[in-house]
Amino acid sequence: MSQAKENAALAALDFVQDGMTLGLGSGSTAEIFLEHLGEKVAGGLKVQGVPTSAQTAACAQENGVPLVGIDKVSRIHLTIDGADEVDPVFSLIKGGGACLLREKIVAHASDRMIVIVDESKLVDNLGQFPLPVEVDPFGVTLTAEQIYEALKKSGVQNGVTTLRQNSDGDGPLITDGGHYIVDCKCELIPAPGETAHLLSQIPGVMEHGLFIDLSSIIIVGEPDHARIMELKRE
Ligand code: A5P
Repeated sequence: MSQAKENAALAALDFVQDGMTLGLGSGSTAEIFLEHLGEKVAGGLKVQGVPTSAQTAACAQENGVPLVGIDKVSRIHLTIDGADEVDPVFSLIKGGGACLLREKIVAHASDRMIVIVDESKLVDNLGQFPLPVEVDPFGVTLTAEQIYEALKKSGVQNGVTTLRQNSDGDGPLITDGGHYIVDCKCELIPAPGETAHLLSQIPGVMEHGLFIDLSSIIIVGEPDHARIMELKRE
């Protein structure tokens, strides 16, 4: 287990208060957080979690973290999630684990989103990590062409798109919501807001992995401590 991710996950626990409904992110860092949250719950902390993936739900259950369905809550106080890239104004690429649609629904519904990462995720510009876009299987070829055009129009020089395959290699990966993932090799996304806007206009796109203006706190785990970065939003 990476000590940096562990330190980020541990620092996030300080933001959790008794009685909170938590959005539970997906990925390896979010799962480390769940392990420690489980220890707190065993010690008497009362929280309930809204999972962003089947894998996170299973991990929460293994660690004794009580779950609640998203349709049963009126408020999510805090979401803790990982990210694939974080830029200087806290715009994110997410979806490396194919959970981006549910992650965004939960993050968007939360009073606050805290992102936990190690330093390797901090970038000057988004785009080295392939941008995942969750799409409906119906008309996927057409949708992928429209995604390519949207990337080009928003300044991405050569946004090569590929359909993500499942780990058995016998077909496209299917997300928890029954969709496909189109990964876009961008190298550089010069205007993330514009790219996000154009991708959202495409009917076959369920959601894209650009998370903009959603997080105000990034916890960066380092080998021996965690650094908390905060952005004041108007
Ligand atoms: C899941 O779909 C992703 O958005 C993850 O949050 C992201 O891939 C970070 O995962 P790690 O914590 O495993 O790096």
